Order: sequence, then structure tokens, then C-alpha cells
Amino acid sequence: MNFELKPLSLASAAKTSTDTLIVLISKHFKAGHDPLSTLIEKALQAKDLSTQPGNLLNAYALPGVKASKVLLVGVGDAKALDLKLAVNAAVAVLKTSKSANAVVVFAEPTSAEALQATVLTLADASYVYTRTKSNPVPRHLKQVTLGLVKVSSPLAQAFAKSVAMVQGIEFAKEWANRPANHATPSMLAKAAQTLAKDRAVSCEVLGPQEVAKLGMRSFMAVAQGSAEPLRFIVLKYQGAAKTQAPTVLVGKGITFDSGGISLKPGLEMDEMKFDMGGAASVMGVFKSLSLLKPAVNVVGLIPACENMPDGNAIKPGDVVTSMSGQTIEILNTDAEGRLILCDALTYAERFKPKAVIDIATLTGACVIALGAVRSGLFATDDDLAEALQKAGDEALDLCWRMPLDDAYADTLKSNFADVANVGGRPGGAIIGAKFLHRFAKNYPWAHLDIAATAWKGGAAKGATGRPVGLLLNYVLSLEASGKSKVVAKS
Ligand code: BES
Ligand code: MN
Ligand code: ZN
Repeated sequence: MNFELKPLSLASAAKTSTDTLIVLISKHFKAGHDPLSTLIEKALQAKDLSTQPGNLLNAYALPGVKASKVLLVGVGDAKALDLKLAVNAAVAVLKTSKSANAVVVFAEPTSAEALQATVLTLADASYVYTRTKSNPVPRHLKQVTLGLVKVSSPLAQAFAKSVAMVQGIEFAKEWANRPANHATPSMLAKAAQTLAKDRAVSCEVLGPQEVAKLGMRSFMAVAQGSAEPLRFIVLKYQGAAKTQAPTVLVGKGITFDSGGISLKPGLEMDEMKFDMGGAASVMGVFKSLSLLKPAVNVVGLIPACENMPDGNAIKPGDVVTSMSGQTIEILNTDAEGRLILCDALTYAERFKPKAVIDIATLTGACVIALGAVRSGLFATDDDLAEALQKAGDEALDLCWRMPLDDAYADTLKSNFADVANVGGRPGGAIIGAKFLHRFAKNYPWAHLDIAATAWKGGAAKGATGRPVGLLLNYVLSLEASGKSKVVAKS
């Protein structure tokens, strides 16, 4: 999808030719002396239109307006959430009218957060998955021009950032949506390698032998029940001096989670193809970084494998030695995410990172705790937690901090190893985080449990691209405040 930004008054918007003209009207609307203003004022007075976010008047062949289809849409206070509501309503109409292009004009001066929410929602609401359909109906909406009263430089920057964020989100959605037989660990690694076509990004892929040499026995244990060979993907984005410590993003890359010998029930097991949502989000962030070129250093680590039950599979009670040297009793083979992440967290130490953030569809318990509105956030550093929460707020990609008291680790005690991979059911998301915490002692660390937020089930089944927005905003916030220029390279 192609976005363009330009200065556009309501008077000039009326003269623009496009499939559909969308006018966003806040409650502060003041009519000018142009045909659209007059119409809007009339409609508001007649109460055929309100400025309530999402309220919509679908008009046709308006006098003085070149576009035959016109949507007048209320955006209330024009806060980010208002625009999300309003733009979702507008795109639903665009879908029925099959518009290929649209001009979206803000009737009043607007904010960077409103502009970003508009771009993100236009893209999100019009996205379609086509990859494995024989006769796909592609995305109708191909081109959107955003019109602002005045294009200031902060707004142009917010626009460039939003467009790059969309590219990252869509990269993540695409890979998370692909069925497990179309997104094996090897395929995921190839996708990561395509990101390294950009000169600021490099990608190294390790296979079973290299991983064995590193001593990642916990990661290897999960992969051993599958016919697909594991991959360990190392992505690097260098935008600042080599001497600057990187932020490390670790993404859980279970391309299919059957549960292993602790087999999952059949219902909705297909959704376990999304269990590499963390990995997909890390790759998505790299996509955005390659477009924006911020002055930061970022490393992406993706342990990728399937969790399957065959004759070689790990069994409940097996004990493995992780790369850290800690031994783990695998009481439940379905708690596999932590088994692959713990070795990646140990590997992360070699980068002497500023911070390490892992992103994982880790626990069903987090789905119960927070639902699909906010991802679970765990952090050993208050500043890091605060920055991540803020980054999420700004991207409408919310998270909520959860505790890490040591007492939550009590049930992880094992009679046969240093630690067990499962504890009790109460507080399961926190117990999962406490397991990871043992391997993340040597740097500021955060863990995002995206089990509920990475994808939607039911009729709207599909990946959300979360938390690319949160992570990208966080990484961009690290750019030295003096030189925060954000310029998109197309
Ligand atoms: N990938 C799942 C977590 C999951 C479950 C995400 C449902 C989204 C929806 C993870 O590997 C898992 O199976 N976790 C277990 C852990 C338990 C055995 C301690 C779970 O949540 O049931
Ligand atoms: Mn599992
Ligand atoms: Zn899993």
C-alpha cells in the first residue's frame, strides 16, 4: 500500500480526483468558504452527521466536489483512539465500494499521534492475506493520499515513521500468518536473510551443528522431536557507532507448537502456527529500521524450530543442560518457549547489551490475565519498563507491567535439576517470566508475553503484527535526542 502526504485544504480536496474522498471532522470543526465546508455544516446542523468518532455520512455526487464518492467521518477529539475508530469505519465502507485509491483529508490542523493512528489503521483495516490462496482477492485499497492543512516538519517525520512502521507490521503479519508448512525454521531464516539486502542490516543463520557447538542443549531439546532442522537467526542493524551498546530483541520462533509429547488438545491447534509471532515481530522491526535508518544499534536473535512429538522427542522428566550451565527438568514439553528462549538470552550476553527484550507467545495464562488488549510486560529495570509502556501507548500497541517477585519462582523447584520448566497454574504468565529471569541476570531485561495480542482467533483469524509498533517506537526513542531525524528511504 502506497501512502503520500501533502498539504490540502478542504477547498483543494474538493477539486482532487480520487475514487473516494474521506473528510475527517473533529468536534472543533469550523466551516470555511468552500463547497465541502458548507455541506458539512449543513449536515451537522441537520444532525445527519455528528462529530462522534466513527459517525459517518456516505455521500455521492456532491455539487462542487470532483470525487463522486465522499465519506464525511466524525473523529471527535481527534485523539489516536478516535481516529482508530473513525478510520476503521471508513475503511469498512471503502471495502464495499472497492475503492483502489482514496484521499483522506483532515478538516482541521492535526497532531502527529492522530496522523500516525490514521496511517496505521488505514493499513491494518485494509490488509489481506493472499499467500496460500489459489485465486486471491487482493487488497483493494492501493493508494492513499493524506491531506493536511499544513505539513509541518514534525508531521512529515511522524508520517515517515508511520509508513515505515506499517511496512514492519505487514512483514510481521505476513510471516506469522503463513501456515507452518510455508514458514518452517529454514524459510523463516531465508526471510530474515532478505532483510540483509539493506547495507545497514546483516544476518547470520546458525544450523544444528553450530548451535550444538554453542551448547544450546535446551533449544536443541525442543527441536529434536521434529523432522525440520532448527535455525538460530542473528540479525544486526548498525545505525550508530560500533562502540554503542546494542539493544537486543529476542523473538520466540516456534513455527508450530503441537505441545510435543505433552500434546495439546485438537481444538484450535492450527493457531499454534502463530507461535512464532515474537520472531515475526523482531523481523518486522528490522524491516522498519532498514527504511528509517535511525542512529541506534539493534541485534535480533531468533531461535526457530518446531515443537513436535516423535520417537526422538523430549519426554516429561528429561533433564537438559542449558547454554548457561543450569540444568532444566522438562516436566511439560508444552512449556517449550522458555526452553528455546533461555539459550538465546544467554547468547545475548556476548553483545554487552544496553538492554535485552524478549518477545514471546509464551503462556495461555497471559491470555487469561490480560486478554487481547494489552501484552504482558515484565522488566527488571523500571526505566526500561516505563519506556516500553510509553512506546506502546504511542503506537496504540499497549502493554501492562506484571510483577517479578521471587516468590513466584517457588513452584519451579525440581528434585532432579536446577529448575523445572513449569510451576503451578496460578500466576502462570509470571512463572514463565520467572523461569526466563534466571537466564537474564547480566543486563537490564524485559519480557513481553504476546500470547493474546499477536493474533486474533475466530472469524477475523490472523496475525496482528503486534508488538512491532511498540518495539519500533522504543528503539527510535533511544536515538540521541539531538539528532532524531527520521527520514524514510523509499
Ligand atoms: N505457545 C504456547 C502458549 C499459548 C497458548 C499462546 C495459547 C497462545 C495461546 C506455549 O508454548 C504453551 O504451550 N504454554 C503452556 C505452558 C504451560 C504448560 C506451563 C500453556 O500456556 O499452557
Ligand atoms: Mn507450548
Ligand atoms: Zn509455544
